[in-house]
Amino acid sequence: MSLNIAQILHDDLITPMVRKTAYGLATTCILGAAVYAGYCVAAPEKHIIRQHRHPELNDQIEKVVDSLKITDDQLIHIMHILEEEMSAGLSPITHKQATVKMFPTYVRNIPNGTEVGQVLALDLGGTNFRVLLIDLRGNARVELTSKIFVIPQSIMIGDGRHLFCHLAECLYDFMLKENLLRTGICYPLGFTFSFPCRQEGLASARLTSWTKGFSCSGVVNEDVVKLLQEAINEKGINAKCVALVNDTVGTLMACAYKDPATAIGLILGTGTNACYIENLDKVGTWNSDYDEPKQVIINMEWGAFGDNGRLNLIRTKYDEEVDLSSINPGKQIFEKMISGMYMGEIVRLIILDLLQQELLFLGHRDTYGDYKTPLYNRGGFYTKFVSTVETDEGIKFSNTRRVLEDIGIHNPTYDDCAIVQHICRQVSKRAARLAGAGLAVLVNRIGKSDVTVGVDGSLYRYHPRFKRNMERCMETLVNKDVKFALETIPDASGIGAAVTAAAECRSGKGAAMVACVAGKPYLVNSIVSDEETADYEKINS
Ligand code: BGC
Repeated sequence: MSLNIAQILHDDLITPMVRKTAYGLATTCILGAAVYAGYCVAAPEKHIIRQHRHPELNDQIEKVVDSLKITDDQLIHIMHILEEEMSAGLSPITHKQATVKMFPTYVRNIPNGTEVGQVLALDLGGTNFRVLLIDLRGNARVELTSKIFVIPQSIMIGDGRHLFCHLAECLYDFMLKENLLRTGICYPLGFTFSFPCRQEGLASARLTSWTKGFSCSGVVNEDVVKLLQEAINEKGINAKCVALVNDTVGTLMACAYKDPATAIGLILGTGTNACYIENLDKVGTWNSDYDEPKQVIINMEWGAFGDNGRLNLIRTKYDEEVDLSSINPGKQIFEKMISGMYMGEIVRLIILDLLQQELLFLGHRDTYGDYKTPLYNRGGFYTKFVSTVETDEGIKFSNTRRVLEDIGIHNPTYDDCAIVQHICRQVSKRAARLAGAGLAVLVNRIGKSDVTVGVDGSLYRYHPRFKRNMERCMETLVNKDVKFALETIPDASGIGAAVTAAAECRSGKGAAMVACVAGKPYLVNSIVSDEETADYEKINS
């Protein structure tokens, strides 16, 4: 079966256009001729190039794209494997070798919207670091002020002490600006730390490995809350870290503050991961009390799914290449097929492959040799480009052309643009379907008829089709008697850390903190939306 450009575009480009033209012809020959003439003027390249295209080239392109396709049956098979890996992570016998670690988080009290107080939060998970002051006002109302700081690459891969020192300096700057220093109040602080951690308590967590381009020395196996608190104390800052949460947990908690049906947290951003509320009797690795509530949030760390080779069946040579050239080869295999840190790079490798096979940019042989252009360089095709290309509708491909210009391809043909868009669509669709299958496992497992999933992350927020593709695939995979909803709350991962601290207070375990939270009323409500965009723009490979 051969793939032609009409097939590539059939859903939203060619079909309406052809229909329109046919209708015009049927109505009146003169009008039809005019429509056709107009069409030729509007899409001259397409007109010419399609005459030149050899059908066997289409077959070759299709072969490449086919390697990215995952059928529903394959997804169901992957769901079974994930369930097995989850059981391995939860069992004390197999936990050590398990790839999906299923870490118990010690977060057991789910908020009910009544939590109140002022809490500081630090949110570290990618190249950006955010400091927040959150005012929980009860009745599910939240006010906050926040500031984004950049984590320079040199710090991301440098000495761990410098990282925590940098975090404390950013906190100091923020508190200085907001007049929070030397107020006589010791502010409670929730720390959203979005890396795999083995928790030993709510405010004690050992990093098991770095992900997402971080590799600071001297932090793995250390208690990150301790490292942070030491840096805070060294700077004489009046704040105490009372809770550490993963961003998935923060997202679940922030969402549950508004909607108590929330039972799952999902992140689709620079990295990917999910957490959910599990019954204690299913958590063989649980080593604390069995008091009420007999549940705990499990941080799955699903990004590592497949690190033992169990996803090899669906991996392509591009996935292998992305993995081999990464800072952590062999690790985070599921994450590398889904998340924003890697998506653009997968697309770039496919484009390069097609170019080398002389299937793409045929009019650009003269630029082949220019190895300085982003197209030839790792990370040269940003993940935000995938979204930009996919927002193009119609025959002009103005966004796609701009993106191709950015990576060093000038004056691409209509076919070039259509093929690049097709590649982006397939790569992002595969990611959405894989994430959807993982999420379906969790929704089915919760065992309730209504399940809300708190979702966040730049990929999910800014990609034009990710949510739709994920939902579509979940509709097939989720048990028919279960209703699910995907909810997104602004700043969820940071707010969640604050809510977690406050929820612990409500449970009576954080009495000291309640005293500390009951400071004077404080409120600024300013979120600069540019900050979020800036975050997304930095995502590249
Ligand atoms: C980390 C997770 C995190 C996810 C999303 C992954 O790389 O291992 O802890 O939740 O990224 O930020």
